[in-house]
Amino acid sequence: MSLFVAGSIATDHLMSFGGRFSDSLVVDQLDKLSVSFLVDDLEIRRGGCAGNISFGLAALGLRPVLVGAAGEDFADYRSWLERHGVDCDSVHISTERHTARFVCTTDTSMAQFASFYPGAMSEARLVELAPIAQRVGEPSYVLVGPDDPEGMLRHTDECRQRGYRFVADPSQQLAFGEGDMIRRLIDGAAYLFSNEYESHLIQSKTGWSEDDVLARVGTQVVTLGKDGVRVVARGAETVEVGAVPGVVAVEPTGVGDAFRAGFLAALQWSLDHERAAQVGCTLAAYVVEGVGTQEYSFTREQFAERLATAYGDRAAVEVRPHLAG
Ligand SMILES: Nc1ncnc2c1ncn2[C@@H]1O[C@H](COP(=O)(O)OP(=O)(O)OP(=O)(O)O)[C@@H](O)[C@H]1O
Ligand SMILES: [Mg+2]
Repeated sequence: MSLFVAGSIATDHLMSFGGRFSDSLVVDQLDKLSVSFLVDDLEIRRGGCAGNISFGLAALGLRPVLVGAAGEDFADYRSWLERHGVDCDSVHISTERHTARFVCTTDTSMAQFASFYPGAMSEARLVELAPIAQRVGEPSYVLVGPDDPEGMLRHTDECRQRGYRFVADPSQQLAFGEGDMIRRLIDGAAYLFSNEYESHLIQSKTGWSEDDVLARVGTQVVTLGKDGVRVVARGAETVEVGAVPGVVAVEPTGVGDAFRAGFLAALQWSLDHERAAQVGCTLAAYVVEGVGTQEYSFTREQFAERLATAYGDRAAVEVRPHLAG
């Protein structure tokens, strides 16, 4: 049974400006604003939550099915993902819109001008899960990550309707969604992922207490940044796992996605929640100590070694046989 990973597929276009924006802005002329900055550097990074999570799962040796919408410009990104083991055959390709794109210019004082173009992402609502299940078999889990809000709701509804187990991962959509929408995205999930801030946002927007949330999802996984993660499951003891020690954090973008990939991979291998959290934290460490969300690589031995150093030999012994060779 394979994992379906639904969510955004996007690229980030990141530029750096060698001066300060504020030196070029005339405050009393902002109504006529028109400036152009000559930038030193352009970096194009593959991203989007579903892209990142799928990449992480494939790095661990699984073959996840990417579910989402992109534009005709997806070809390069597709071959990258396929080369790493992601099934991209169910990605919907828009004939009218480009792949979602985040464009951001940062100056020397870290001030930013950024825009996000959702583009083809808005067509994620056209993707149905049943035909994918016909192609590759029923999913073990369907992760519903941040995406076109209507698409997220439809995927979640379809999971409930067809009895597919689903993982709710609303992340950044929590900031925009109303309580009603968030309740619909979460109710009946097998797992709910969020960071600590988002877990409070979930409670305040849904009006559900911690216990109410737990009554509606089987297990809640709350990541705590450099402090690791807490896994609270109905009728079981809370599991707390520390982050990998001694990691020098370079750039946090994508750590949450990498954690999810590791956690889900371990579930797929039928390991328990403690192991799942450890695998998640180990994969997240690779991302936080580098730049970019899909730029890491490791051998089976390196990953197992890292897991052993952080969490002990038994953890590594259980995980090693499952890793990509
Ligand atoms: N400084 C760090 N050192 C080691 N591990 C880290 C660090 N920061 C994060 N992690 C790992 O990444 C996991 C997820 O981090 P975090 O809770 O910050 O996610 P997030 O807020 O969803 O991040 P983002 O949305 O920016 O990807 C943590 O559970 C931890 O294992
Ligand atoms: Mg996050």
